[in-house]
Amino acid sequence: MMSRKQRIDLGESSREASTNKRSKCETPNNINPWTGAPYSARYLSILETRQTLPVYLFRDNLVEAVKNNQIVVVEGQTGSGKTTQIPQFILEAGFVTPGETSIACTQPRRVAATSIAQRVAEEMDVELGQEVGYTIRFEDVSDPVKTVLKYVTDGMLLREAMSDPLLKRYSCIVLDEAHERTLSTDVLMGLLMEVLPKRIPGSKYGELKVVIMSATLDAEKFQEYFHGAPLMKVPGRTHPVEVFYTSKPEANYVEAAVRTTMHIHECEGPGDILVFLTGEQEIEQACEEMREKAGAMGKDLPELVVYPLYSSLPPQQQRKIFERAPLPRVPGGPSGRKVVVSTNIAETSLTIDGIVYVVDPGFSKQKVYNPRIRVESLLVSPISRASARQRAGRAGRTRPGKCFRLYTEKSFHEDLQETTYPEILRSKMSNVVLTLKKLGIDDLVHFDFMDPPAPETLMRALELLNYLGALDDEGELTDLGYQMSELPLDPQLSKLIITSPEFGCSAEIVSIVACLSVPQVFMRPREAAKAADAAKAQFSHPDSDHITMLNVYAAYEAIPDRDRRQWCWDNFVNDRAMQNAYNVRQQLLGIMRKLDLPLVSSDRKGDGSFAFTDIRRALTAGMFMHVAYRQRSGDYLTAKDNQLVALHPSSVVISRPDWVLFEEFALTTRNFIRTVTVTNIDWLVSMAPHYFDLENFPECEAKAELEQAYARLAHSRRKT
Ligand code: CDP
Ligand code: MG
Repeated sequence: MMSRKQRIDLGESSREASTNKRSKCETPNNINPWTGAPYSARYLSILETRQTLPVYLFRDNLVEAVKNNQIVVVEGQTGSGKTTQIPQFILEAGFVTPGETSIACTQPRRVAATSIAQRVAEEMDVELGQEVGYTIRFEDVSDPVKTVLKYVTDGMLLREAMSDPLLKRYSCIVLDEAHERTLSTDVLMGLLMEVLPKRIPGSKYGELKVVIMSATLDAEKFQEYFHGAPLMKVPGRTHPVEVFYTSKPEANYVEAAVRTTMHIHECEGPGDILVFLTGEQEIEQACEEMREKAGAMGKDLPELVVYPLYSSLPPQQQRKIFERAPLPRVPGGPSGRKVVVSTNIAETSLTIDGIVYVVDPGFSKQKVYNPRIRVESLLVSPISRASARQRAGRAGRTRPGKCFRLYTEKSFHEDLQETTYPEILRSKMSNVVLTLKKLGIDDLVHFDFMDPPAPETLMRALELLNYLGALDDEGELTDLGYQMSELPLDPQLSKLIITSPEFGCSAEIVSIVACLSVPQVFMRPREAAKAADAAKAQFSHPDSDHITMLNVYAAYEAIPDRDRRQWCWDNFVNDRAMQNAYNVRQQLLGIMRKLDLPLVSSDRKGDGSFAFTDIRRALTAGMFMHVAYRQRSGDYLTAKDNQLVALHPSSVVISRPDWVLFEEFALTTRNFIRTVTVTNIDWLVSMAPHYFDLENFPECEAKAELEQAYARLAHSRRKT
C-alpha cells in the first residue's frame, strides 16, 4: 500500500552514511562490473564531477524510498543530476535483473534521450547501445538483452506498451520531465495507474517501480494524482540571477536577441551565454549573424564561438554544446566565450554547464489544436511565467548570473500565463485514442487522465478513426485499425501506407511517407534562393509536392553512396534529411513485412517512370479528410470545415486546380496549406462516400459539384 503524503528530508547523518557507502560500492578493485574491464581514466574523472551533483547526497534516501514504495515523486532543480544519476542509483541498488528486466527513463524530447544516453554510457564506462541505450522514433540504439538502462522518448514507451501492456520488460520506469506534461507522458501516467496494481510484489512479472521526476514546484499535483506517493525534494544549488527587462516591447525578437548577445559579449564579464529562440531556421539565422558580428568586432575581444541546438541537429553537432569555451587569445588574457542558441530544449531537458547569461525573448513553439476545425498547428507563442523563471535559472548554475528578458516587466506580470496548459488540452487525440484502443482501454471518458481532454477533442478523434475505418460504428478496433496502430505515424499516413498496395504503388508511397517524416527535404538559403528554386524545378511534378519529394528521393537512392553528399549539396537537397528518410523507409518496410503488406512499385518497366495517377489516387485514399477546393472567387476553402486557406508559396502546384489534398495546415499570419497534391471530386466521392455524404455536407459551393459527382458515379456504376 502507498503511504499518506510524506516528505523525505535529508539529515546530516544520512549524508555521511551515503558518502561512506558510496566509496565502497563504486570502485571495487577498479573493475567495471558491467564490462569486467578496468575503469578508464575518463570514468574516474567524470565520477568526481558526478559526486558534486546535489542528487548524490540523496542516493541512499532515494534507494530506500524506492524500496519501500511502488511510486516515488522526485522534484529537483534542473541540473541537480536527476536524469543522469537517479536511474544509475536504482540500477546499482539492484532493482534490475540483467538479461531479464531493465529500467526505462522517459524523455519528452529526442535530443535529450540521445544526448543523455550518450552521457550516461560515458559515466558508466560502457558502449552506447550496449548496457545503456536509447530508443526514439525510427531509431533504436539498444540491445534487447544487454541493455539495463534505456532512455526513451515518452511516445516510444507508449508504443512499446502496445505490444507489452504490462511493461513486463521493465522493473522500473522513470517518468522524467513530468512537469512538461506532454501528451504522451500524461497518457503514460494514466496507463501506469492501470498497470501498477497488476505489477505488485509477488505478481507474475514482479513488482514495477515508478519514479516520477519533475523540475518545478507543482510536484504536489503529481503526488496527489498518485494517491499520496512520497515526495523527495532535492535542494538545488543555485546562485542569484539578476533579471533585466526591456523598457518597451521589441518589434523583432530575433534581431533583439542577436543585439543583446553581442552587447553581453562586449560589455559583460566572462561566462557563457544561452539564447532561447523557437526553431531551426530562426536559430541558424541568429547563429550566422552572431558569427558575422563577432568576426567584425575584431581581435580585441575574446573569441566567441556560437553553437545551435535544436532537435533535428545531427548528434555530432549536438555534442558540441558541451565543449568548453575557447581559450584566451593570449596567455593570461580573458578566456573565450561560448554562445548556445537553443529551442526550449535547454530550458529543463539539457543542462549546459558554464552558462552565466541568459537571453530570453519570451517565445517558444507550442502546439495548438482547434477541434472545431480539426486543425493542429505549431505556433510561436508567448511562454509562461514558470518557463521564464526556468530559463532565468539556467544562468545561476555555477555562479551569480544575469537574465535579459526581451519584454517589459509589465508584460511579464500581465501578459504571460502563470503556467503552460498541459499538451493534452492543446492536441488532437486521434493517435492516443488509437493507442488506448489497442491497449484494450475502451472507456476513454473514465480513463484516469490527470487533466482530461475536452470531450469535443475525444469525439473528433473517434470520428476521424471511424472515417478512416480504424474503428467500427461501435467504436471497436477493426482489422485495419490494428494494422494502423502498428505504424508509428499519424493515422492518416498509416492508412495511406496500408491501402497503397491496392493502388499498385506501395514502394512509392512509403518513400513519400518517409520524406514527410523528416524535416525539410529542400534547402532554400536566402542568398541562393534562385539557384535553389532552379534545382528543385528538376524534380518537380506540376500536380504534386508529394510526387516532387518522391522524385528527389528516387534520384537520391540512385546515386552511389559516396557521391550522395555532393549530389545533395549541388541540388540544394538536405543531405541529413535524406539519410533520415532512408532510415525511416527501412523501418517502415520492416513493419510492412510484419503486416504482410506487399511492396509493389508503379514503375512497372523499371525505368524510373512512376504511375503518377495511381500515386495521386493512393494519396487521396489516405488523405481524403484533408482536402480543399477552389471557390469561384479563387480562394480555397477546406472541405466540410470551411476554412479559408491559401496554397503555400513553396508549393510546386501553381495551376490552381479545383481540388487539392494537403499534408499540413500551417497557421501563420494567413492560413496556409502546405505539401499539396491535385486530386479530384470523382475520386473523393467514390473512395470516401461516408465522409462526403450529401446529407451532412455543409451548404457551400462544393455541394452542387458533389451532387454532380455522385450522379456521374451512379451512372458509371449502372453502365458496368
Ligand atoms: O536532470 P537534471 O536537470 O536534474 O540534471 P542532469 O541532466 O542529470 O545533469 C547533471 C549534470 O550532467 C549537469 O551538470 C550536466 O551539465 C551534465 N551533463 C553533461 O555534461 N552532458 C550531458 N550530455 C548531459 C548532462
Ligand atoms: Mg533532467
